Amino acid sequence: MRLSIVGTGYVGLVSGVCLAELGHQVTCVDIDQEKVDRINQGIPPIYEEGLEVLLKKNIHKTLNASIDLAEAVMASDITMIAVGTPYKGEQIDLTYIKQVAQQIGEVLKSKDSYHLVVVKSTVIPGTTDDVVLPLLEKYSNKKAGVDFGVGMNPEFLREGQAISDFMQPDRIVIGGIDQKSLDVLDKFYNVFKVDILKTNCKTAEMIKYASNSLFATMISFSNEIGNLCEKIEGVDIKDVTRGIHLDKRLTPTVNGQRITPNFTTFIEAGCGFGGSCFPKDVRALVAYGKQHAQPMQLLNSVVDINYQQHEQILKKIHKNYQDISSLKVAILGLAFKPGTDDVRESPALFIVEKLLYKVAKIKAHDPIAIHEFKKIFPNQLIDYCETHTQAIDQADVIIILTSWPEYLTIPSLISNRQDQPLVIDGRRMLERDSVSRYEGIGLY
Ligand code: UGA
Repeated sequence: MRLSIVGTGYVGLVSGVCLAELGHQVTCVDIDQEKVDRINQGIPPIYEEGLEVLLKKNIHKTLNASIDLAEAVMASDITMIAVGTPYKGEQIDLTYIKQVAQQIGEVLKSKDSYHLVVVKSTVIPGTTDDVVLPLLEKYSNKKAGVDFGVGMNPEFLREGQAISDFMQPDRIVIGGIDQKSLDVLDKFYNVFKVDILKTNCKTAEMIKYASNSLFATMISFSNEIGNLCEKIEGVDIKDVTRGIHLDKRLTPTVNGQRITPNFTTFIEAGCGFGGSCFPKDVRALVAYGKQHAQPMQLLNSVVDINYQQHEQILKKIHKNYQDISSLKVAILGLAFKPGTDDVRESPALFIVEKLLYKVAKIKAHDPIAIHEFKKIFPNQLIDYCETHTQAIDQADVIIILTSWPEYLTIPSLISNRQDQPLVIDGRRMLERDSVSRYEGIGLY
């Protein structure tokens, strides 16, 4: 198939590169010339494991990047919209989606063959039917369902594992305005031997939001229980969650072996969720409920608990130091999770903002996300270190915010220090007795 994919962020670029690898003829479109140039040179504008190899392999063969949306749409059979939907004010901002829908509509006006337009961006239910479709009709002067098709196909890619998630999907959800749109997408995705759920566009949109909200809820649930455990001497959230995991409905025993499904890691306490999806998507669903006079009480609390969770880290500093003004603090982990250089809504952003100018010095380390963090907190404010060993040197307080595996070496790195630093473990990755001054989330 010939495809044009508009937007070269995580979803657009990963999808484009993977679909090119599968043999489709793909043009990735973006308004940012610099990004387009980089992609055409085989250099991914974002870090994602495995992306560079696949990009280099397919560029100028089955894959191209361009700023010319009209040409790309004209020369393809399917256009996927994968532009950003940032959260603005009280709802997601559809400016980019609307612009792109209008531009695609203008091209469809002079395109003779059948074309399918698919929304891949995460959008609130109704966006494809009530915003994208009317714009396509208005600017093409054609009828959806007759002259062209419209679909909604959410992505379930995790940053850091996006390539393998795309190539080995757990499900494919396709929404369509009519049978023909669904049939085209069904045939397109048939190569993946996986459940394909066919539905209408609104349901597809809702599935995406509900999926992310479920996982965010599990995290906030665990954090709420953890915060209670913190008040009770002798009760450690780690033991509590381990006990919960052992419920056979969560970790069933098959042929005498206990299976631990991946989702049990969401039932663990930590310093809160971040990233470009969970915080934004849960807030968007809360706002959507409000619009429909349906209060989303649970999800509202999920957001609140997550926001307050960053405070738990700060409380632990204040519990140990009345005056923090002379402290040298090491922040370990700037990305919102390991395996990515994405710092959007990362706990480190909130915590650094709260500590800046209040402590004597902040040193920070992350194996790959420093360049992104520097865009928000430049060199003058923070002493960025190439290794975590440098970052913790002479630190009074060490705060772990991302569970990068190298931080497991902290106990041995500080064991000989005379003045033992306080280690605040936001991810509960160290053994509590492995350092002499330990504070962990969910621990008294
Ligand atoms: C999330 C979803 O997991 C994907 O299914 C979805 O496609 C994506 O959002 C999206 O909407 O595009 P992602 O944001 O990349 O993916 O990251 P996750 O790995 O799900 O992590 C989100 C947050 O949950 C992070 O802050 C992470 O630290 C936290 N988390 C993740 C946990 O606390 N525990 C875990 O076991 C996994």
